[in-house]
Amino acid sequence: MTTWNLNGTNSHVLICNGSSCMRKGGEEVTQAIRDEISHLNLDGLIHTTRTRCNGRCKDACVVIVYPEGTWYKAVTPAIGRKIVQKCMKPEMELQESVLYQYDFEKFIKVNEQSISGIEKPVKIGG
Ligand code: FES
Repeated sequence: MTTWNLNGTNSHVLICNGSSCMRKGGEEVTQAIRDEISHLNLDGLIHTTRTRCNGRCKDACVVIVYPEGTWYKAVTPAIGRKIVQKCMKPEMELQESVLYQYDFEKFIKVNEQSISGIEKPVKIGG
């Protein structure tokens, strides 16, 4: 198992490889994202991880970028390439693909066209 030195990494891209996302092109999205990172010579700045289901299967293929805390929905290979570009150009417009955005306190649903999903119970201090 590879152990990467992540010093200097500024973005971590989590690419869902759960079964719903894989049926919607998850492998092609994964390869497009990794290819764009290599093409732009960003291997030292952007780290990727394949995940299992992220719990938003109806929005497949799901990609999450940290530390900005952006959840992207219905990601295609072309959108995946734009996500990589946006890691280096935060001002880049990609709002139509954003599902949730972290506002430094909590996640906010940005795209109202996607289903709400099942409410999670809120426990504070428990
Ligand atoms: S399989 Fe990707 S969110 Fe569930």
